[in-house]
Amino acid sequence: MQRPWRGKLTLPMADDRILSAVPVEDDATVELSLRPRRLREYIGQQKVKANLDISIAAARKRHEPLDHVLLFGPPGLGKTTLANIIANEMDAAVRSTSGPALEKAGDLVATLTNLEKGDTLFIDEIHRLPAPVEEVLYSAMEDFYIDVVIGQGPAARTLKMELPHFTLIGATTRAGLLSAPLRARFGIVHRLDFYDVESLEIIVRRSSQILNIEVTADGSHEIARRSRGTPRIANRLLRRVRDFAEVKREGKIDVGIAREALEMLEVDEFGLDEIDRKLLTTIIERFSGGPVGVGALSSSIAEDRGTIEDLYEPYLIQIGFLQRTPRGRVASKLAYDHLGYAMGATRKQADLFS
Ligand SMILES: Nc1ncnc2c1ncn2[C@@H]1O[C@H](COP(=O)(O)OP(=O)(O)OP(=O)(O)O)[C@@H](O)[C@H]1O
Ligand SMILES: [Mg+2]
Repeated sequence: MQRPWRGKLTLPMADDRILSAVPVEDDATVELSLRPRRLREYIGQQKVKANLDISIAAARKRHEPLDHVLLFGPPGLGKTTLANIIANEMDAAVRSTSGPALEKAGDLVATLTNLEKGDTLFIDEIHRLPAPVEEVLYSAMEDFYIDVVIGQGPAARTLKMELPHFTLIGATTRAGLLSAPLRARFGIVHRLDFYDVESLEIIVRRSSQILNIEVTADGSHEIARRSRGTPRIANRLLRRVRDFAEVKREGKIDVGIAREALEMLEVDEFGLDEIDRKLLTTIIERFSGGPVGVGALSSSIAEDRGTIEDLYEPYLIQIGFLQRTPRGRVASKLAYDHLGYAMGATRKQADLFS
């Protein structure tokens, strides 16, 4: 079987891209205070919430741990938040680790043998588990035991070790990279989608209350609609707009201030930033609108392939600016219009007349 691509995702580390869906700067500390703790506080994702609600209630009624849960979707949509909420709702202790942190099978064995009945084990970026580690998970998830090899060479013996019944919650931005045997062992699988503007508005309002920021209804609407469907970005834009409001005005955020601040931060009407625009203009100008393979695109704009696939594309596809076809990526008419190109042109309309 061909193993899926497990290359390291180069996240823009030093990047303070305002629209980055991955955490930047002080996001981590603020996020902690903004993170909802209960399912009823978790905004949007109605279908996922309704389903989880039933799974949790049923498990609780049977006094059994919850089935293993896989959460997938683009960065910043609330996978980690939801994993913690699930544990809270189950009154379960949660231990958190991540695919890259579990380097050797022994690391996972140590983690698993430390679990108690009913505990939740959260593995973030589960698609990055090394294969030998992943194989330990198979029996652990399915039958709650692991085979431990003791000794070396001909004297080596395999010992079957029982594990307490636990719940594994895996999170990944790339469900496609999960091997079939691993994926098949999750009883509950949910995909998180980008949030609609109404939900983001509620998130902005909720966060502004926690952070003590005064924002009008149309102010939070403006921030919400430029947040690329992502709560993490909504929360970050809120804080950046607040900075602007505090310096330029008395601190209150209304639609005018929000617009002014976001324009200064180069966040456009659709929540696109410079790199999104560069990606689309490259497809339009250098590849006549596509189709173009993601490899070629990645070298043209000097961005890591995984970063393009994880961070930029999903939202551009969601808003209909980009299409993913078997032969590559294609820029849509919406993208041409938004960026000021006539359909099929490789130069901007404005430039043609200058
Ligand atoms: N449904 C929600 N309601 C309110 N706030 C949310 C919701 N989802 C996410 N958030 C906010 O967005 C922040 C980012 O969410 P979280 O860290 O859970 O995303 P993630 O999907 O785990 O991202 P990554 O893929 O980078 O790990 C949280 O700190 C929280 O404040
Ligand atoms: Mg996370």
